[in-house]
Amino acid sequence: MSQQNLSFIDEVRRRRTFAIISHPDAGKTTLTEKFLLYGGAIHQAGSVKSRRSQKHAVSDWMEIEKQRGISVTSSVLQFEYNNFCINILDTPGHQDFSEDTYRTLMAADSAVMVIDSAKGVEAQTKKLFQVCKMRGIPIFTFINKMDRQGKDPFELMEDIENVLGIRSCPVNWPIGSGKEFKGVFNRQKDQIELFNDGNHGQSIAKSVVGKVDDEKFADLLGSSLHEQLLNDIELLDVAGDEFNLDQISKGELTPVFFGSALTNFGVEPFLESFLDITTPPTPRDSNMGVVDPESDNFSGFIFKIQANMDKSHRDRIAFLRICSGKFEKGMTVNHVQRGKKVKLAQPQQFVAQDRVIVDSAYPGDIIGIHDPGIFNIGDTLSQKQAKLQYKGIPQFAPEHFSRISTLNSLKRKQFLKGITQISEEGAIQVYKRPNIGMEELIIGVVGVLQFEVLEYRLKNEYNVDIRIERLPYRFIRWAETGSFDSHNMSMTMDTILVEDKDKNPAFLFQSEWSPTQLVSRNEGLVLSETSIY
Ligand code: G4P
Repeated sequence: MSQQNLSFIDEVRRRRTFAIISHPDAGKTTLTEKFLLYGGAIHQAGSVKSRRSQKHAVSDWMEIEKQRGISVTSSVLQFEYNNFCINILDTPGHQDFSEDTYRTLMAADSAVMVIDSAKGVEAQTKKLFQVCKMRGIPIFTFINKMDRQGKDPFELMEDIENVLGIRSCPVNWPIGSGKEFKGVFNRQKDQIELFNDGNHGQSIAKSVVGKVDDEKFADLLGSSLHEQLLNDIELLDVAGDEFNLDQISKGELTPVFFGSALTNFGVEPFLESFLDITTPPTPRDSNMGVVDPESDNFSGFIFKIQANMDKSHRDRIAFLRICSGKFEKGMTVNHVQRGKKVKLAQPQQFVAQDRVIVDSAYPGDIIGIHDPGIFNIGDTLSQKQAKLQYKGIPQFAPEHFSRISTLNSLKRKQFLKGITQISEEGAIQVYKRPNIGMEELIIGVVGVLQFEVLEYRLKNEYNVDIRIERLPYRFIRWAETGSFDSHNMSMTMDTILVEDKDKNPAFLFQSEWSPTQLVSRNEGLVLSETSIY
């Protein structure tokens, strides 16, 4: 989706690739849809949602998703706005999110955190925020649903600082709230922006813009709202930190915006400021040093593998985040981890709500590559430098564990094949207990829904029925190699030792205090919350 006559450098610099993180129901889908509306990619809001209820959402590919009206897998959307080329990485928004949600954040250059104004920071947002913080990417906060009675804006900012431990600076400030919500005060532009309800949010909301002391606002707002705004503006200077671009880009300070995705109030000012402040594709760490996105070697890494959306598991799509150089259809590149060349013949891109074959793509873009079963999560593709490897993607700690076996022992081969393929996609993690043999397969997942997905897929794609026995473990820690001797360990009561697919030793625990206890009992033992793919 590139514009004509733009140079390679221009194309890179106009890219903005971000993920939207939130707790379910905060309004992520609605906000995404409004971005598409303002970008001109859809003409009437409501289409994504009605597709969700009538047929299925953009990324839906399994019956289970349709039944529940949720999206189990993450999707990518590309659209244009004000000469920016925007890639939104969508993350599953239901309670039972998966490792994919976390991994998607590895491909983003920044994140938008949507918070429900009545609820403040919620559990899932907190988890996703931690991953963004670990990466040190800029995090922008959109406080949504201001058209409803919610918490006080100052209280919400305090909530963000206390619960998430990040400092905040308001960029837009709400004028009124609930039924009285009229618009925002744009601190950067030092102006009031009042909105008219655009056809219940279906169309773009028109705004009246002007300086705070413009007399028309005293009329438009009424004297009490106008006075409150003037007081708030005075207070704002003490309520939040000062705007500091350097701190924002390191993820140490979050710019805060208020609005209502449903009615479109505050959506456009947010989009404009966000695109302006957020970063174009950033340099990425590799074994050969930091890779500049504007360098001419095409390279990228695979952050997600998805069984074919056409329902045939033999055919998978690997999602590649382009980190440097220009991609051209049909190019041959090095698949670094396998030491082989691959031709990228029919790559796909996800433009607005459709999948299209892409001819060229740039750093920041995500392309879907046909995977005949050769790619793994974390793999690097590189055109010129055959040994370039991007830093691995962490394997995030699952929080739910089950013992899995096949109901029909004659189907054991199919069962193992299915488990292997699904674990290669990164939807589940497989562990064995050393010396216990193949009968005892333990599966770990980040969200419990993945057990249902596993059961469904093994039955539908591999014709295998399974038994799932939930185990009481909730925590896993990987042991750093050489830091213990498994034969001479002093174990805690609720702990077992397992091996992951790469034979790395790890412990499963029931209580969050047990890891510390285990370490104190075994001198030299070093435990880690993640391991690298
Ligand atoms: P999610 O993707 O984060 O899970 O949230 P989603 O956008 O699906 O929004 C969850 C619910 O919140 C939806 O209502 C949606 O209409 C509503 N919502 C989103 N933004 C706003 C807002 O700014 N103000 C108000 N008042 N509501 C908002 P629903 O009843 O669950 O679905 P629907 O029947 O409206 O489709």
